[in-house]
Amino acid sequence: SNEPSTSGVFARQPAPLQDREGRLDPFDWYQKMRDERPVSYDEERRAWDVFKYDAVRTVLSDYETFSSDTPPDDDSGADDSSPLSASMISVDPPEHERLRQFVDDRFQPDAIRDRRPYIETVAESLLDDIEGETFDIVSAYSFPLPVIVIAELLDIPAERRDEFKQWSDALVAAPREQTEETLRKNEQHRTQSIAEMSSFFRNALTERRGSDRDDLVTLAANAEALSPTEQLGFCILLLIAGNITTTNLITNAIWSFAEQDILHAVASGAVDRKQAIEEALRFRSPVQAMSRVATEDTEIDGVEIAADERVTAWIGSANRDESVFDNPDEFLPERSPNRHIAFGTGVHYCLGAPLARLEAGVALSTLFDRYDTIELRDDQFQPVSSPIVYGLESLPLHVE
Ligand code: HEM
Repeated sequence: SNEPSTSGVFARQPAPLQDREGRLDPFDWYQKMRDERPVSYDEERRAWDVFKYDAVRTVLSDYETFSSDTPPDDDSGADDSSPLSASMISVDPPEHERLRQFVDDRFQPDAIRDRRPYIETVAESLLDDIEGETFDIVSAYSFPLPVIVIAELLDIPAERRDEFKQWSDALVAAPREQTEETLRKNEQHRTQSIAEMSSFFRNALTERRGSDRDDLVTLAANAEALSPTEQLGFCILLLIAGNITTTNLITNAIWSFAEQDILHAVASGAVDRKQAIEEALRFRSPVQAMSRVATEDTEIDGVEIAADERVTAWIGSANRDESVFDNPDEFLPERSPNRHIAFGTGVHYCLGAPLARLEAGVALSTLFDRYDTIELRDDQFQPVSSPIVYGLESLPLHVE
């Protein structure tokens, strides 16, 4: 058949979020599903969708019943040869620990805090480069910042960031118009990108094996517990996992603060910046969904799910669940407690969460320190064309 052959975590995605009933916002749809069919089967994707907070947490964290080792589409005939399937995000315990442990220290809040001066320098210099008073904050700032930071951690040339972006975009993209042709092209692009990333990192790993450099590629190259394919999977995962996500956290935070008219309050400290960023993570979660596969016949909230069926956990819906959050559709910058699960939960809880929080904090304070006035230029947003990433391709601002 001409079914797209996708692999691992990104397999069989729903249509891009903004295409659901013609809106950017999937939130009404989530609400309807939470009310009417909180655990439901999507015939088209042949996958279960789970919408309520508790069930989403169960699917994400109960790895014995819901495995992250999602196979490629069974009817595609493709083998799951992507190195990403040998990375921590696609692997269950006990292997998972082996693939994460060697790097865990490097991402602890204490270790990450040392990066602050560097991140501040990058943020300042990106703002220095902006010309004029009206510009797109995504291309000037939210996009390059995380890429430059991760490129430095991996010690790979940040100048190639446009290429890195194309590679990452290809992995999470879905065509707006879903025909056999566009899906096939999308899949081709994805395969091509994985091939390019693989050859890029294979060279870097070979070069650095045995060296005493201090970067994460060298750390992986010298990690004896990892096979060469697992080392490669780690590098690719790191390059893609932290970029589109953090870009959209920064963008969605600026967008939400401007919309709520709290930019000044956050800038002056009248509203706590850290808490406001947590609310942005909840309200416009950069990652809206993650998928698992059932390891055995099971049930969620009384609905039976058979072994080997796919289950998509809607993080974006869980974070709007009225049984956990009061007034879930309101952006309350000082919401407390704020038990959002934008970084997931359980053993796969985001490795990069401390880094993402630090980058967003630095990005926003540097931006607010620079300008007295920041305004949204218009409301013609271009959403990211992805079924799982929520954010904007561009966000025009006017500053003074
Ligand atoms: C895992 C979200 C930034 C690296 C995850 C997961 C989520 C997530 C939801 C869980 C996946 C699952 O359960 O299957 C986000 C968001 C970010 C962000 C919203 C930014 C706002 C980053 C950054 C990095 C990173 C900056 C690295 C530099 C990872 C890795 C995993 C992961 C390696 C896999 C962890 C594991 O499987 O043990 N992220 N992430 N992320 N994230 Fe992030």
